[in-house]
Amino acid sequence: MLHIIGIGLHSHKDMTLRGLECIRESEVVYLETYTSIQDGAADDLERFIGKRVVLASRELVEGSDEIVENARDKTVSFLVVGSPLFATTHVDILSRARARGVEVNVIHNASIMSVMGCCGLYSYSFGRTVSIPYHSGERISSWYNNIVRNIQNGLHTLCLLDIVADEDRFMTVNEAIEQILEAAKDSVVDGGTKIFAICRFGTPTEEIAFGTVAEFRTRSFGRPLHSLIIPAEIDRSEGYFVEALFGSK
Ligand SMILES: C[S@@+](CC[C@H](N)C(=O)[O-])C[C@H]1O[C@@H](n2cnc3c(N)ncnc32)[C@H](O)[C@@H]1O
Repeated sequence: MLHIIGIGLHSHKDMTLRGLECIRESEVVYLETYTSIQDGAADDLERFIGKRVVLASRELVEGSDEIVENARDKTVSFLVVGSPLFATTHVDILSRARARGVEVNVIHNASIMSVMGCCGLYSYSFGRTVSIPYHSGERISSWYNNIVRNIQNGLHTLCLLDIVADEDRFMTVNEAIEQILEAAKDSVVDGGTKIFAICRFGTPTEEIAFGTVAEFRTRSFGRPLHSLIIPAEIDRSEGYFVEALFGSK
């Protein structure tokens, strides 16, 4: 049996009771460590559930069959920060497990994708979510082109920022802005464009700020994780809520 469990955004306290029950009945518990992070998650989890937590790198999850093979004759929990199937490639382990006849149970949770409803913008008015990678040549244009396409279609863009977990590198709002300005060459995004900075969403130190690219380029936003929203044209009723929440639109 393989339980694929989202543990939410902040800490073990965000786990659902259903998730906790599954973990309690599991003989092996893995925590995926490369698509998102929670400060001190593994230690806190081990203390809370009273079991050893195995840290699962990309290589272990995607490059080996250890987890699926274990789940053939044991009850296994595979824990993912946020919601397990949002902005991850974990549908892969789900389908590999099903293909081998392993029963799979998915427990969803809050995700960074939930931020779409939290800034005064309509979640229905978002286009493709993009991931901004640390410099990597060709790939730059595809994420930037999707931002342009969203704006041209009147759709807002949630930008997730790169994580290089094994080097403890988490892209900041400032670094993302540099990448965007370099790709944009002052076309649809420039220093005057207003954006949302999303920092540590869903945690007690959450900060969501609304301001210009020029302003946010040098402002410090504190510890990771960070994301951005680049709004397209904000309509009248969205503008009302944005102004109510952030004092300007
Ligand atoms: C690949 S996504 C993983 C999504 C995760 N499965 C979820 O459902 O939230 C990771 C990226 O989302 C963004 N992110 C995740 N959690 C965040 C948070 N609490 N605050 C701000 N950004 C976050 C960051 O840009 C991070 O690099």
